[in-house]
Amino acid sequence: MLEITNLEKRFGAVAAVDRVSLTIPDGQMVGVIGRSGAGKSTLLRLINRLAEPTSGQILYAGEDVSVLRGRPLMAWRAHCAMIFQQFNLVNRLDVMTNVLLGRLNYHGFVASMLKRFTPAERAFAIRALDRLDMAQTALQRADTLSGGQQQRVAIARELMQEPKILLADEPIASLDPRNATIVMDALRTINREAGITVVCNLHTLDTARAYCDRIVGMFKGAVVFDGSPSELTVDAARAIYGVDGLDEALSESVTSTSIGPATGATVPSRLAVA
Ligand SMILES: Nc1ncnc2c1ncn2[C@@H]1O[C@H](COP(=O)(O)OP(=O)(O)OP(=O)(O)O)[C@@H](O)[C@H]1O
Ligand SMILES: [Mg+2]
Repeated sequence: MLEITNLEKRFGAVAAVDRVSLTIPDGQMVGVIGRSGAGKSTLLRLINRLAEPTSGQILYAGEDVSVLRGRPLMAWRAHCAMIFQQFNLVNRLDVMTNVLLGRLNYHGFVASMLKRFTPAERAFAIRALDRLDMAQTALQRADTLSGGQQQRVAIARELMQEPKILLADEPIASLDPRNATIVMDALRTINREAGITVVCNLHTLDTARAYCDRIVGMFKGAVVFDGSPSELTVDAARAIYGVDGLDEALSESVTSTSIGPATGATVPSRLAVA
């Protein structure tokens, strides 16, 4: 369980994250939504300790991760892997090597660049790629893949760290709707099958509603909504996006109606009126 208490990050006068408290049970898929500048990326960076909190506490399994230094901090970063909008693959390397580089924390840079990986690690990498339906591309150069394929390789690379939590900062923002669906399906499969907690910053309401167990809405650094997709009413959405922003968020949703789970479940209807 991840327990965030009164977490705050200030940049001068701006509270990028403003006294946020959230308890996230293991295995939950959480979507974080909000306008540009609401504090979504900063929240993920604080969890992963890429940014230092001004105040507040982050506990994981009862341990205070907001004070870790050195090796325990490295271990924590591996525990909560991060994926980004820009896939950050090494273009000129093949897919397999890119995935193996996910072991960097364990190996050190030089050993990784010399491609000194054990057979067990190679087998693990193939399994990670296979889980994302990408094993067939193992020997292809990363820059020959589509955006959606690259993002799936980036996810496989993070799985090499055997994370407990996957933090995804707008993982589909630069993908077309078809690839966005494939990547969101992959994240949900990993969440369901491996029990990895997923905290995912998302741009569009429909995607958050379609894929997440829980939606956290941020406005000016603070959490202004925390509930299930069905609880996200028009009023709640207005509090998250503001009156002007709501139209924009909804019109973005309209253009992304093709994004939805591939299997079974239907994309939830438009915002229910309270
Ligand atoms: N390193 C920094 N220095 C100064 N201000 C920062 C820094 N990082 C973030 N901020 C400010 O903190 C606030 C929250 O930024 P953040 O990037 O977390 O928002 P966001 O919700 O991820 O936005 P977007 O949807 O555009 O990605 C913004 O006002 C931003 O300008
Ligand atoms: Mg952001």
